[in-house]
Amino acid sequence: MSLVLRELKASDAARCAELETVLFPGETPWSQEVFQAEFCQPHTFYLGVQDTEADLLVGYAGIGRMGPADDPEYEIHTIGTDPAHQRRGIGRMMMDNICFIADREKAPIFLEVRVDNAPAMSLYEAYGFHRLGLRRNYYQPSGADAYTYKREGGQPADDS
Ligand SMILES: CC(C)(COP(=O)(O)OP(=O)(O)OC[C@H]1O[C@@H](n2cnc3c(N)ncnc32)[C@H](O)[C@@H]1OP(=O)(O)O)[C@@H](O)C(=O)NCCC(=O)NCCS
Repeated sequence: MSLVLRELKASDAARCAELETVLFPGETPWSQEVFQAEFCQPHTFYLGVQDTEADLLVGYAGIGRMGPADDPEYEIHTIGTDPAHQRRGIGRMMMDNICFIADREKAPIFLEVRVDNAPAMSLYEAYGFHRLGLRRNYYQPSGADAYTYKREGGQPADDS
């Protein structure tokens, strides 16, 4: 398997929506139209991992840049790996890039994660995120609660 990290474009929206349906069943997964709209926002950046041998997108992630221009913060909007390709480092490939983008500006990163999502919490904690609080009924229609997580800004950017 040959994996390449790349920016996502409008033609990836259908595949992202397909993966969302599998990864977030019953949690109002984003549609192709929602992904297309997200890709067009001036303050968002979407990246993914392509299996070049299979010619298939196997991971996707998106972040938003918020706050004052000279003191920004980031939020992870979504991240997911094709179940057939999980636990092979694809999540780490995407998180490396997300953290690099924020670290260049010494900016914090925020996110929400479902309270029973142990794999995602383990991934985030490996990147220095810590739990901030609880948002009740965050996910719909399930009504599941979410933890909010933060990765502090000011971490040294890894330019290697
Ligand atoms: C969370 C997710 C993106 C991880 O993707 P991945 O490509 O499997 O991640 P990686 O192979 O790079 O694993 C990186 C780390 O994540 C954690 N992790 C990943 N899967 C895990 C699992 N099943 N159980 C525990 N920890 C896990 C581990 O810390 C792992 O590091 P390690 O392999 O050195 O132990 C993937 O499980 C996924 O798509 N989940 C469904 C969608 C989702 O929950 N997204 C997050 C919403 S907040």
